[in-house]
Amino acid sequence: MALTISKKLGINIDHVATLRQARLGEEPSVLEAALEAEQGGADSITVHLREDRRHIQDADVFELMEKIYVPLNLEMSVSPEILKIAIKVRPEKACLVPEKRKELTTEGGLDLFSKRNSLIRTIDALSAEKVEVSLFIDPVEKQVREAARLGAYAVEIHTGSYANAAGKKKEREFFRVREAARLGQELGLRVHAGHGLNYENIFPLLAISEVLEFNIGHSIISRAVFVGLAKAVQEMKKIIISGKG
Ligand code: PXP
Repeated sequence: MALTISKKLGINIDHVATLRQARLGEEPSVLEAALEAEQGGADSITVHLREDRRHIQDADVFELMEKIYVPLNLEMSVSPEILKIAIKVRPEKACLVPEKRKELTTEGGLDLFSKRNSLIRTIDALSAEKVEVSLFIDPVEKQVREAARLGAYAVEIHTGSYANAAGKKKEREFFRVREAARLGQELGLRVHAGHGLNYENIFPLLAISEVLEFNIGHSIISRAVFVGLAKAVQEMKKIIISGKG
């Protein structure tokens, strides 16, 4: 009997911290959000410690690492300051992303051919601490090949262009994600996907067997406003496991 491994769901809870920072107070609690997401079936919790600290704060990362049960995935740039913190926290996973001060959210994948020294230093330092390093890249062949050459553990394929496209263009973007995922697996990388995914556009991606994990934030936190976070996560988890809404 063939063994099917179900895809994993990582929940990005940055938006909970965005709401808290709007009043610079204590609520809503990022830790409580992580624990609720776990109850709903989250396989990992993602937070992005941005250089400008616009949402997640250093203390959140340390507290989550200590108190959550599922692996912590720390999203981060290759800045030496953030690397120092990551080394202290030693999360199970880290996802390296490009970061721009003025962006509303991460706008695209890393270009693995620029900032090479910082990139290599960050990958090596984290890997030495047994952190599984994934590189957030666009679905582009040369980026996938470079991720493997750099010794990354995983790639997270940026699905933003797929999510934002419509009609024929969406189909083309889907094929780009699928080709990148296939190549990644062929090269021995673990393949994740994320950005802009929601309760509808995720369905076609479920057919890409090479994608082992989805990382989703905005759509789930938005749904949580109406149904609660555990239920919002549960609904997405059900889709991922059963292929049905
Ligand atoms: N993966 C990465 C690398 C991201 O930067 C983000 C956004 O923070 C996500 C996944 C989640 O994207 P969304 O909030 O659009 O679901």
